[in-house]
Amino acid sequence: MASIAKATAPKGAALKNAPAPAAKKTAAGASSNGKSIAGGNVGKGVGSNAVVDIQPRLNQQQHAPSPTQRYGTVSQRLPIGLEEATRQESVTMLNQLLADTITLRDMYKKHHWQVVGPTFYQLHLLFDKHYEEQAILVDAIAERIQILGGVAVAMAHDVAELSSIPRVPRDREEAPVQVSRLLDGHRILLENCHDYADKADKSGDDGTNDLIVSQLIRTNEMQVWFVSEHVVDSPLIQAE
Ligand SMILES: [Fe+2]
Repeated sequence: MASIAKATAPKGAALKNAPAPAAKKTAAGASSNGKSIAGGNVGKGVGSNAVVDIQPRLNQQQHAPSPTQRYGTVSQRLPIGLEEATRQESVTMLNQLLADTITLRDMYKKHHWQVVGPTFYQLHLLFDKHYEEQAILVDAIAERIQILGGVAVAMAHDVAELSSIPRVPRDREEAPVQVSRLLDGHRILLENCHDYADKADKSGDDGTNDLIVSQLIRTNEMQVWFVSEHVVDSPLIQAE
């Protein structure tokens, strides 16, 4: 048993009279055990911590240098095999489609919130579904612009200036009026799509042509179909 007692003796016992190791002082004045050292340069006020400087550097936009890239310019940085003139034309077209698609997307959400009447539930769900689909198109267009070396339009005030879809009033409107506005927006967007797809095809920008034809035209035509059938003048309870 004596051997067991010896083996279980406290490990620190042999060091009882040894001098304590000196605390390792950091450059900022704190010990390695995390406790501050009296008289060290630890901070000037309660709760301050000079050891880790994690203070965000705010308001940098007030002293901003020139932007990384100006809107309207086209960089040739990415080697995608397209001429500068082709990229420039495609970026201009895509920014127009982007502004119109953002506008249409947001019109769908407005109508999703404000729709009223006997078809409320159907239109409420349909408008939100179309909003989500338009949001996917927005991202696809914007990323295509960046791939081409352009700068995608993004903020609401810039979109409002650029969009070719007429301004929608803030008021709550009847469902048929909402539907008519949406169909008008789709028509404007699709007319531009057909024009731009043709131009992208002629300039050799196959990626832009494919985006417009395969995603924008297909999605918008499908949405036109779903929305249009809601305003067909058809009796609900008696066949004519
Ligand atoms: Fe919702």
